[in-house]
Amino acid sequence: MDDYVELKYGGKTYHLPLITGTEGEKAIDISRLRSETGLITLDPGYANTGSCISRITYMDGEKGILRYRGIPVEQLAERSTFKETAYLLINGRLPSLQELTHFSVMLNDHSLVHEDMKIFYQHFPRASHPMGILSAMVNALRSFYPALENLEEEINITVTRLLAKIRTMAAMSYKISLGHTPVYPRPDLAYCENFLNMMFHTPVRPYEIKEEVVRALEVFWILHADHEQNCSTSAVRMVGSARVNLYAAISSGIAALWGPLHGGANQAVVEMLTAIKEDGGDYRKAIARAKDRNDPFRLMGFGHRVYKTYDPRARIMKKMCDQLLDALNLDDPLLDIAKELEEAALNDDYFIEHNLYPNVDFYSGIVLRAIGIPTNMFTVMFAIGRLPGWIAQWKESMDDPMWKLSRPRQIYMGPVETDYIPIDQRG
Ligand code: ACO
Repeated sequence: MDDYVELKYGGKTYHLPLITGTEGEKAIDISRLRSETGLITLDPGYANTGSCISRITYMDGEKGILRYRGIPVEQLAERSTFKETAYLLINGRLPSLQELTHFSVMLNDHSLVHEDMKIFYQHFPRASHPMGILSAMVNALRSFYPALENLEEEINITVTRLLAKIRTMAAMSYKISLGHTPVYPRPDLAYCENFLNMMFHTPVRPYEIKEEVVRALEVFWILHADHEQNCSTSAVRMVGSARVNLYAAISSGIAALWGPLHGGANQAVVEMLTAIKEDGGDYRKAIARAKDRNDPFRLMGFGHRVYKTYDPRARIMKKMCDQLLDALNLDDPLLDIAKELEEAALNDDYFIEHNLYPNVDFYSGIVLRAIGIPTNMFTVMFAIGRLPGWIAQWKESMDDPMWKLSRPRQIYMGPVETDYIPIDQRG
């Protein structure tokens, strides 16, 4: 088998090494391309560019495979918890019972948020988007929790704080937006239960924790826990490559995730389905608009940069959506519209030719609605789920022997050297 590819340029032949991943994926190593040939590569959106070697998540977009540390996401969704999956991603292996118990204790111990942070929360304008607040407040954590001298201790405590506090901070932003007093975390509740209680408990209506809602949330977060080098994860790695603190790197990931083409799609899907419902329920109009080249409208929750088949997470999410609504005896008209829309799109030539299938966001908004999460908090829910992945990827990049400050190049197509013209001499 060849272990290099040949590049012929300027009368010379160059040998570029081939790298093969554990699942047989091949890549051309171009790290010495510029120094040897003077050339760079051009790859808008990095669609063909591997930015790192990673041992965390494997996905195959053609076959619809997703695995965390080798374990299929289907198995984790069926049998694991979000906390255990977070441990797996961050530490590279499943925990023993003792390790998991210790992890839970640590998450409980660090779940409180500095009381002074409440003042900041209270002064965001009421209409602020929770993703903007979360990104700002996660960045602000550094000011409240300064760095420790010992690097290993500093990383461990920062990771624990982030995982523990993000739930409290997210629930706090929701409570404050309602004008309610935040609910404190309870040591007797597990990770997901605690979050639900902080979101929905009030002194006049104690929150009733339902097993099926907790399981739905566990699965929702497991399905979002990592997705290799997507936009927000690449932001975390890229910002982290400047050796900023972890809070700042995660804050940049949250900002990237906010976008409607990325994590913001779950909110956009529900808004799209609601608009279809309010317009009389005719989903065909949405399909026609999505196909019209002169209309910027896209079918939200459809299409993916890597998956060219059904997103395996969407399959699990759809099943869970049905189960949850059944268990809670809920009837959501948006689910009916979503199913009709999906079927029509999957049978439409445009969507078939473009390999456009539902992605994770297509059904996740309906699951979140059933849990009681308000629409503007959907992407925050995604961010909580993605946090272990961001942390795992950041940690891997910190230990990477091939580490480099991220600094892409460009092909300049602007004006050639031009003299400055004083303002009184310009035409
Ligand atoms: N509806 C209609 N057409 C679409 C859609 C869509 N949802 N997605 C892609 N296309 C079309 C494009 O118009 C383009 O058509 P053309 O080649 O005829 O011009 C072609 O498919 C390729 O589209 P690109 O934008 O080049 O593909 P890319 O890989 O960059 O897009 C993306 C991926 C951004 C996710 C896109 O599919 C999209 O905008 N989807 C809707 C938003 C969404 O659901 N985002 C969530 C993604 S999952 C996640 O981040 C968690």
